[in-house]
Amino acid sequence: MSYRILLLPGDGIGPEIVAEGEKLLAAVAEKYALEFTFSRGLLGGCAIDATGTPLPDETLALARDADAVLLGAVGGAKWDVGPAHLRPERGLLGIRKALGLYANLRPALLFPELAGASTLKPEVVAGLDIVIIRELTGGIYFGEPRGVGTLPDGSREGRNTMVYSEAEIERIGRTGFDIARRRGHRLCSVDKANVLETSQLWREVMIRLGSEYPDVDLSHMYVDNAAMQLVRAPKQFDVVVTENLFGDILSDCAAMLTGSIGMLPSASLNQTGFGMYEPVHGSAPDIAGQQKANPLATLLSVAMLLRYSLGEAAAADGVENAVAAVLRQGLRTADIAVAGEPVLSTVAMGDAVVAALRAGG
Ligand code: NAD
Ligand code: IPM
Ligand code: MN
Repeated sequence: MSYRILLLPGDGIGPEIVAEGEKLLAAVAEKYALEFTFSRGLLGGCAIDATGTPLPDETLALARDADAVLLGAVGGAKWDVGPAHLRPERGLLGIRKALGLYANLRPALLFPELAGASTLKPEVVAGLDIVIIRELTGGIYFGEPRGVGTLPDGSREGRNTMVYSEAEIERIGRTGFDIARRRGHRLCSVDKANVLETSQLWREVMIRLGSEYPDVDLSHMYVDNAAMQLVRAPKQFDVVVTENLFGDILSDCAAMLTGSIGMLPSASLNQTGFGMYEPVHGSAPDIAGQQKANPLATLLSVAMLLRYSLGEAAAADGVENAVAAVLRQGLRTADIAVAGEPVLSTVAMGDAVVAALRAGG
């Protein structure tokens, strides 16, 4: 089979980690007799520098022409001074919206060898395997009105609006139930229904949907409690479904349960199964260009790409097994190394995963 993959390296550590993703895909092609044609696009700060906009039309056209997209990360201090519509992050939000990528799957899985790398006690995280499903194209990220305006007294006011339609809630709710059905049959819907009307509607819709999924055990939790429960007893969760901003925050929190934000992959899917795949972390300007970034979140995102958009389950398993194998061999980047362990560069970790893939059964 032949597939077209769009690579969007982005900014900061983006190019370093996407290079490892491309290298891994080349090895996957060889091992599983697949063919990948790569195209490359600009998104974020690099796109602003080259074209004056964070999401050039050409990038969107390339994405629409591809079978799947692999993204690094966008953003950096250099572009934080510009007007809101000219920020790298707007490019990322724009491509998610334009492609209708409303379902963001963020699995937090602890590889057993990394129990000691987490800041939580090993017994709290051992065996952790949860999925956070984040609504990605609605809520306060996109609601109107938004902006900074001037009040009659001359002082300024900033404004964002949280909006959710019933249809938007229902489609992400169904994603939650469907995924819970394929896993442990437990779905926790996280909201702030004690305060927000959007959340009251959210909860109402989830309860209504629940009657269609009697085999799934639906529970509800307020987001502040959910943040606390995630660090108190994370294994109580199976699948969590939540709105855009809550999901952003809770998934970074869940990342640390797995040892590092450098371990968390994600898939952003539309109704047809088309997807963009990216690590949950950002462009990490503090370590960019130094070959210190952990590429595993990106390589695990490649596995999700193979599984969800291309239907290449054997290749996806191969990649995940290869990542597990390098961790079993004791290979670590700085973020997941415990005191005294030798530390690999980004490229060396990528090479190790490729070698493990080739050696795997
Ligand atoms: P960040 O995730 O980039 O970094 C937070 C911390 O985690 C930093 O100390 C960083 O070095 C570390 N880290 C992140 N990824 C790592 C990896 N793969 N290996 C090792 N360490 C890693 O978050 P931030 O510092 O809040 O944001 C930096 C920039 O990234 C901002 O411009 C922000 O808007 C952007 N951002 C982009 C995305 C995205 O493109 N999807 C996501 C989050 C943040
Ligand atoms: C993420 C990031 C983005 C978000 C930013 C960079 C727009 O934090 O992908 O988690 O908030 O969605
Ligand atoms: Mn985030």
